[in-house]
Amino acid sequence: MSNPTESSDAATILVGVDLGLAHFDGALEELSQLAVTAGLDPVARVTCKRKAPDAALFLGSGKADEIKLMAQQLGASEIVFDQSLSPAQQRNLERYLELPVNDRTMLILEIFAQRARSHEGKLQVELARLQYLSTRLVRRWSHLERQRGGIGARGGPGETQIELDRRMIGDSIKRTKERLRKVKRQRQTQRRQRQRRDTFAISLVGYTNAGKTSLFNSLVNARAYAADQLFATLDTTTRHLYLGDASRSVSLSDTVGFIRNLPHGLIDAFEATLQEAVDADVLLHVVDASNPNHLEQMDEVARVLREIGAADIRQILVFNKLDAMEPERRPLAMQDWITFCDNPTERLFVSARTGEGMAELRARLAQLARGDGDEEAPGHENSHGEAEAVVQLGTIER
Ligand code: GTP
Repeated sequence: MSNPTESSDAATILVGVDLGLAHFDGALEELSQLAVTAGLDPVARVTCKRKAPDAALFLGSGKADEIKLMAQQLGASEIVFDQSLSPAQQRNLERYLELPVNDRTMLILEIFAQRARSHEGKLQVELARLQYLSTRLVRRWSHLERQRGGIGARGGPGETQIELDRRMIGDSIKRTKERLRKVKRQRQTQRRQRQRRDTFAISLVGYTNAGKTSLFNSLVNARAYAADQLFATLDTTTRHLYLGDASRSVSLSDTVGFIRNLPHGLIDAFEATLQEAVDADVLLHVVDASNPNHLEQMDEVARVLREIGAADIRQILVFNKLDAMEPERRPLAMQDWITFCDNPTERLFVSARTGEGMAELRARLAQLARGDGDEEAPGHENSHGEAEAVVQLGTIER
């Protein structure tokens, strides 16, 4: 990737190939936000439809010519594809377009690298980058090795540069994993201490930019960094949460945001951080109710929760940014909730910004922490008089 930290106006062309999957427009809009977050300047979007990606260039050569011409006209210095490119496709495209070509995965890794603040966060991102790099190196160079063969191919003094590099990356991966294991042990100790103290653990999870940190701040009266950026928070923060008469001690954790096509290496690398979510008694799944793609975002969060083994934890859907929704859209959001998915049984509507619905959220959490929350019919009432609407919509739907 060209270095976006050095140049804040790296003119970039975004490319989306519509392979007939849903939410194509939303994905490209999100790619644009990701590019801006990474410090790039998206100057144009190019889209095309295909039944399947081209093996060599991902798209057709006619489209590639169009992108090349456009890049010259606009002075673009980088091309970013929304879809994952194979190492060969990336290489072919770079040769064809004579510009650096990256994809969504690389953009996300770049943002994580820029955002990581804590020792643990940096280690996790480093591990994900190394793992990503190692697969690219292996695949990129394997054909050279096949040609070469013969003496020294198994290491020792005759070892090739390729193998040296690969070995160095392998060693770095091992060292980084070892350091992360130590961090993980520390976290486990902290968790055990919390369990001994009988702490009721609540974790905020959700799509990036849903408002987790804003809710966290509002609930614990803190000033963690909340920004209109993707992945403003990479490190899990845990604070004591005061809930009035809840008899137990309660902790609240803010975790890293999820995103569509989160690189698998990142989920692995962030295992220690995400473990906080897995160990919670209750997950507050924060949803940006004002985002037109919020249903798809909820699906994505559910998918990652399944992947990290947190799908069975009690979940409350917290539809945030109520203030940013047209009042007439609220029932629609509730209909979405009714038709959506399997697991969640509760939902609350709040605005971290205006404080609307926050008293109900706190009261509900206090109930759950006391262990007497189950008698209430959860999720079918809130302060906006919408309980009836839910029932009616439910009746119509089923
Ligand atoms: P990541 O760190 O990317 O995972 O984001 P996050 O989920 O922690 O979101 P964050 O709290 O950083 O908020 C993202 C943006 O949404 C910020 O600009 C907030 O000011 C804004 N925001 C959060 N809550 C609300 C809300 O209730 N209403 C409105 N209008 N904006 C909100």
